[in-house]
Amino acid sequence: MAEYLVELYVAQGDHTAARRQAASAERAGTDLAREGRAVRYLRSIFVPEDETCFLLYEADSADLVTEAVARAGLRLEHVSAATTSVAGAQESPDGTTKGTRMTSTTSTTTSTSTTSTTPTGTTGAPDLAELRDKQQKVWSSGDYNKIAALTVPVSEHLVDHVGVSPGDRVLDVATGTGHVALAAARRSAEAVGIDYVPALLDIARRRAAAEDLAVELTEADAEHLPYDDASFDVVLSAIGVMFAADHEAAGRELVRVTRPGGRIGLASWTPEGFVGGMLRTVGAHVSPPPGAQPATRWGTEEVVGGLLGDGVTDVRSVTATVRQRFADAAAFADLFLTYYGPTFSAAGRLDEEGRAALRADLVALAESHDRGEGSRGLVCDWEYRIVTATRR
Ligand SMILES: C[S@@+](CC[C@H](N)C(=O)[O-])C[C@H]1O[C@@H](n2cnc3c(N)ncnc32)[C@H](O)[C@@H]1O
Repeated sequence: MAEYLVELYVAQGDHTAARRQAASAERAGTDLAREGRAVRYLRSIFVPEDETCFLLYEADSADLVTEAVARAGLRLEHVSAATTSVAGAQESPDGTTKGTRMTSTTSTTTSTSTTSTTPTGTTGAPDLAELRDKQQKVWSSGDYNKIAALTVPVSEHLVDHVGVSPGDRVLDVATGTGHVALAAARRSAEAVGIDYVPALLDIARRRAAAEDLAVELTEADAEHLPYDDASFDVVLSAIGVMFAADHEAAGRELVRVTRPGGRIGLASWTPEGFVGGMLRTVGAHVSPPPGAQPATRWGTEEVVGGLLGDGVTDVRSVTATVRQRFADAAAFADLFLTYYGPTFSAAGRLDEEGRAALRADLVALAESHDRGEGSRGLVCDWEYRIVTATRR
């Protein structure tokens, strides 16, 4: 029998939920084995900082493992072959294994650091300024403009959902190539966009000029917005502020610059959706820098409500998907490995074998989300959540 690794999402690194999932997975494996099926549950490895629980099974085929996970009532992100067993993982009394990080989920599966990477980890407070500089370099790498078109519908949805009226002063935080700021300007708002990657702002300026739209585009950090308190009617961010290094500081800034009664609207990839799975796949091959919190925390209403704090009321959310089409799963993986900063820079830190393993897992992830439309290529739905709030 071969070993297989299953990846499950565990919201907010919840230890109790991880324990429950591990227990169900073990029960399902035992039941199937009793029925004479060639499958055996081995162990679970919980990585709270990645909101992920890995299950290790021994089985005759990946299909049997998928069946076990389905019988356990769990929603698997993906299953991959693990040719060597997990070394050095420390089993905790509750049956889950904590504080380990998988460095590969294909040909080798090794656990490394047992150090927490959360801001309150045992290594002391992380240097968030250093983390911000690292992340700025990540977003400056690759060529985000080649990816940006994929999220145009998300920005349009955000602007319509929050409601932008002519004359509103609207801030688009982490505007990238300007999607939300441009959408607001098209609705006759006074649109302002900020981002910390100058090359992306230049593209946004060219797009504004091409449409003859007046959009103010400024190089700035979402954690230190260069605006007075209460200077915007509407503050928005599409798949943007979620990538700030200091989530708390970014949340405070969004609230500070919104006028009383003004609206805040944030669209973020969900942890359980496609991009959540992709970011976890990348993190399984290349550990995120110390102190990095999962960006997809912003894809949950509770977390965003907490980050915006007492300065807001009426926190609500809606969940939606944006449909993506690629020639095939390999085309998706290659596009992201070549142009998308986080995957591009992660691949740059791996050797040839490591890059091939990362690519294989990205291909597998895309295949597991394929809607199966055959000759139409790979078609998948990427889930995001829009959280809205009103400034007190
Ligand atoms: C996935 S892109 C999205 C860009 C744009 N909002 C869109 O919808 O296409 C993430 C953007 O966040 C920006 N970003 C991340 N952290 C930032 C920060 N602390 N300050 C300013 N921009 C930031 C990156 O430079 C990048 O342009």
